[in-house]
Amino acid sequence: MKLTAAPGSALRGEAAIPGDKSCSHRALILAAMAEGETRIEGLLESEDVLATARAVEAFGAEVKRGADGEWIVRGAPWSSPSEPVDCGNSGTAARLLMGAAAGMPGVEVTFTGDTSLSKRPMKRITAPLQRMGAGVDSSDHLPIAVNGARLGGIDYRNVPASAQVKSAILLAGLGTEARVRVVEPVPSRDHSEIMLSLFGCEVAVDDTPEGWAVSLGGKRRLSACGVKIGADPSSAAFPLVAAAIAPGSDVTARSVIVNPLRTGLYEVLEAMGGDIELSNERIQSGELVADIRIRHSSLQPCRVSAEQIPAMIDEVPALAVACAFADGESLIEGLGELRVKESDRLGAIVAGLTACGVAAVADEDRLRIFGKGQVRGGASIATSGDHRIAMAFLTLGLAAQTPVEVDEAEMIATSFPGFVEVMRGIGANIG
Ligand code: S3P
Repeated sequence: MKLTAAPGSALRGEAAIPGDKSCSHRALILAAMAEGETRIEGLLESEDVLATARAVEAFGAEVKRGADGEWIVRGAPWSSPSEPVDCGNSGTAARLLMGAAAGMPGVEVTFTGDTSLSKRPMKRITAPLQRMGAGVDSSDHLPIAVNGARLGGIDYRNVPASAQVKSAILLAGLGTEARVRVVEPVPSRDHSEIMLSLFGCEVAVDDTPEGWAVSLGGKRRLSACGVKIGADPSSAAFPLVAAAIAPGSDVTARSVIVNPLRTGLYEVLEAMGGDIELSNERIQSGELVADIRIRHSSLQPCRVSAEQIPAMIDEVPALAVACAFADGESLIEGLGELRVKESDRLGAIVAGLTACGVAAVADEDRLRIFGKGQVRGGASIATSGDHRIAMAFLTLGLAAQTPVEVDEAEMIATSFPGFVEVMRGIGANIG
């Protein structure tokens, strides 16, 4: 399915952003491992998260969706699913579930995924799990078989900082009493740590000379609880960047997760001269949330260092769009991981910008964008089956001189199923 975004409208009003994808996966997995019934409000009902819901059901948890949109999960001792667990397009589902299953004695399971996920590297997960004593294939790619066991401990250096790797290790470690510690020179998103605490697990986080050290404490049994999930800052990035670049715009997204390990894009946009206002900050189920309002302004180019990337890893396509509208050369460093996301995102960004008349170059892990304050557009973009590339170039089309088309727009449903309706709701011309 193709979609086209046409310029000309100022975007105004409230963009209703669905629940955070990372927190939604974690809520389902922890609820399925916990004793009792967990009620989840604001779960993201996207393809990726539904893959995790089906998976935890296959492991024995009871999963129900109430008429009011609340999800109710009753945890159970995990058993072996009768069929392979299909994680679809979701790296988070595959990697976190592999970790959880590895620490469950007696559970035997094979994980599979779609074409994109089957190309993504998995040794980063299977290697530390094997070090803990798990029965896991050493293949770098799905399908991968896991034979759950009582595991030993690990003291793991997580480089480059990956929240999925850290989370897989912590989930695997829930079934052992041994020392489980993950050290990151630059911290990756800490939703697992926050949610494990919410479910009653002891997790210590220390700022040490080696880096940010996360360890499981003595109490590792999970108890059911209530979870309210905030809006996803990675999804909010598209309507909010659209507001920053489309003249006359003024858009607000409410109750967005503004955990400092997720707000890199918003900090950089502010440094670029973005007109950003945060209000109504509060803690919700352990996570900081706030309303974010962005109004159109003229943008300056940015310099982003490798240390800033973990807090904005999924927002680079949206940032690249903002850089295309800035006046001058932007430089973003430390982007090696973008080569192994849902697509080679760095390659897709450069190809897409170039097709839209914006000069951009990437070497191994750096991206330079030569903005001229305005963008020609008028291109058809190959998204390589990547939801965020599709949304980024539709965003660009809203403020370019001529419309922009994207292919494979159906992939948007993996993370932001109501994207087109939400964008139309603030006045975007997408169809
Ligand atoms: C995620 C972590 C990030 C991010 C991904 C979701 C998570 O990947 O890119 O979309 O939910 O833990 P890393 O594992 O590379 O940090």
